[in-house]
Amino acid sequence: MSDEILSLIYTFSKKFSDPETNLSFDPKNQNISAVVKKGNVNIYLLVKGQKEDLYINIARLLKNNVEQISGVLSVNVIVNSDVENTKINNNNKRFKIDAKNIVAIASGKGGVGKSTFSVNLATALSYLDLKIGLLDADIYGPSVPRMMGISKKPIMNENKKLVPLENYGIKLMSIGFILDSEAPTIWRGPMVMKALEQMFNGVEWGELDYLIIDLPPGTGDAQLTLAQSSKLSGSIVISTPQDVALTDARKGINMFKKVNVDILGIVENMSYFICDNCNQKHHIFSKDGVKKEAEEFKIPFLGEIPIDTNLRIQSDNGIPALIDNPNGEIAKKFMSIAKNLKKSLD
Ligand SMILES: Nc1ncnc2c1ncn2[C@@H]1O[C@H](COP(=O)(O)OP(=O)(O)OP(=O)(O)O)[C@@H](O)[C@H]1O
Ligand SMILES: [Mg+2]
Repeated sequence: MSDEILSLIYTFSKKFSDPETNLSFDPKNQNISAVVKKGNVNIYLLVKGQKEDLYINIARLLKNNVEQISGVLSVNVIVNSDVENTKINNNNKRFKIDAKNIVAIASGKGGVGKSTFSVNLATALSYLDLKIGLLDADIYGPSVPRMMGISKKPIMNENKKLVPLENYGIKLMSIGFILDSEAPTIWRGPMVMKALEQMFNGVEWGELDYLIIDLPPGTGDAQLTLAQSSKLSGSIVISTPQDVALTDARKGINMFKKVNVDILGIVENMSYFICDNCNQKHHIFSKDGVKKEAEEFKIPFLGEIPIDTNLRIQSDNGIPALIDNPNGEIAKKFMSIAKNLKKSLD
């Protein structure tokens, strides 16, 4: 459903050209990105030059058109010209946390397995005897507490700071905890900034070796705010092998490059399926697509994770793969990624 909406959005958007570059706003254009999550649409237009008024006009027309698509509940179009400024402000970090490394897990497209990866990477790192914090920063649909088997809400301590909840030795905080059920489906830049700041300065994290952040999909305010305001060690981009996911992953990579955030690597999720009957690997989508992309961008390829029914079932039940079956194939994949990541950041 989300994919159908996405393709209709691009049917409208490609009728418009970028006022600066004259290129059509088709899916390959780096200056537009669209994410659909549960019927809520977020479209980002990155403004390059001084023609903000022209972009705002396009944004308005896009919003009016996309609102007509059946199944769309809300449309938020953000025109952002902050990207260049982000570079300038790089030394002025207002999000404070005592973490040796901060790693953001990102994807261009929604539903590619970012949250599943974040939870299992955090678990793998904690198996290496590291102090791990996991921050669910997905403003459009926080899902990490459920995947971590946590249903309680955090309490505030005497310093008026939220105390992270803990399971499997990992400290967890979710942006969902500070949103009520009436959470806005339309987020403005300053609201994102405020909520994320609270996740850092307003939480009693203590001392951490790693803070793993599960970002919302796409290239939006949360990504830019974190690049601007926190000391990110870098980001890991998750993609599935399909072309649409790769096109969006490319946008994510380009955005992080623009704001000087290191890309620690790219991971291919749902790479292949091992058949129960014949025990063969079936590459349902194209083979090695993400690996080739990594070579092209000269960024590390961190590994591939197969489609695994248990991974999905255990996620739904709040049990990370490493806890469920520490010696299984999936657990080994995450352990190897965690060790490589640690090596690259030590
Ligand atoms: N390798 C895998 N094998 C089987 N199922 C998977 C795999 N990776 C993720 N899933 C399942 O796919 C669904 C989407 O995964 P997940 O929620 O982690 O994606 P996401 O990128 O965080 O999505 P969103 O953009 O909605 O936040 C979940 O049901 C999850 O259990
Ligand atoms: Mg998610």
